[in-house]
Amino acid sequence: MSNITVKPMTKNIGATIGNLDLTKPLSTEQKADLKQALMDYQVIFLRDQPISHEQHKEVGKIFSNLIVHPGAPSIEGHKDIVAIHADENSKYVAGDNWHSDLSCNPEPPMGSMLYLHTVPEIGGDTLFSSMYAAYDALSPALQEYLSGLEAEHDANPVYHSIYGDYGTAYPCSTHPVVRTHPVTGRKGIFVNRSYTTRILGVSKTESDGILKMLFELAKDPNFQVRFEWQPHSIAIWDNRCTQHFAVWDYFPETRSGYRVTLEGDKPF
Ligand code: SIN
Repeated sequence: MSNITVKPMTKNIGATIGNLDLTKPLSTEQKADLKQALMDYQVIFLRDQPISHEQHKEVGKIFSNLIVHPGAPSIEGHKDIVAIHADENSKYVAGDNWHSDLSCNPEPPMGSMLYLHTVPEIGGDTLFSSMYAAYDALSPALQEYLSGLEAEHDANPVYHSIYGDYGTAYPCSTHPVVRTHPVTGRKGIFVNRSYTTRILGVSKTESDGILKMLFELAKDPNFQVRFEWQPHSIAIWDNRCTQHFAVWDYFPETRSGYRVTLEGDKPF
């Protein structure tokens, strides 16, 4: 990759991108390198990028179309941007539990791009966990067993308490427990603590036991990278092969920015 610099952060996941200014139009080669870096490292980080809403959307569109979040309200004038904001008045924050964004959707987003302009003095990191690495660490027998299972991903339990009841149901979908990444061909675990409610076709005891074990895997530091935000940092992650957790350890300080969500396809 000659057009941007890419520095891996751990053996399994994460890279920082340098030699790139997202406030300026990108060349075809730079866009291709950015997309390749995301495929290679699952989550990529950039610093000192004071982007506008329009630039945020333009960069997001390098990866995929933008989708509208089914629960979180959009910001005024930009239906495909949501605010990620916490301060002294917050009762909850987005993403402070392990999850893959909107895995409840029939076609969950392929990725997300988060830009933070304001960050707390200390804390407010985001952890990302590689679901490729989690899958690769399992025994072949367990990999085979899990590959035959499907799970339900339901937004209703979590969204009703956060966003309220608008009279319509939030998304609930069924996906394979192990999904194959459509670009890299690698397999990864695709269940998460926020949205996945049960494994289909097995007893409740078995479902609860399998999910508990798989949720624990996301917490293994061997599969993770931890990002310490600065003002105007950006993270772009692949929801098909990662989970993330936004740590809310900075109350009552302010952490603020914007996220776009990138259209994906049906997991297989
Ligand atoms: C999210 O889950 O999109 C929020 C991530 C973060 O605030 O770091």
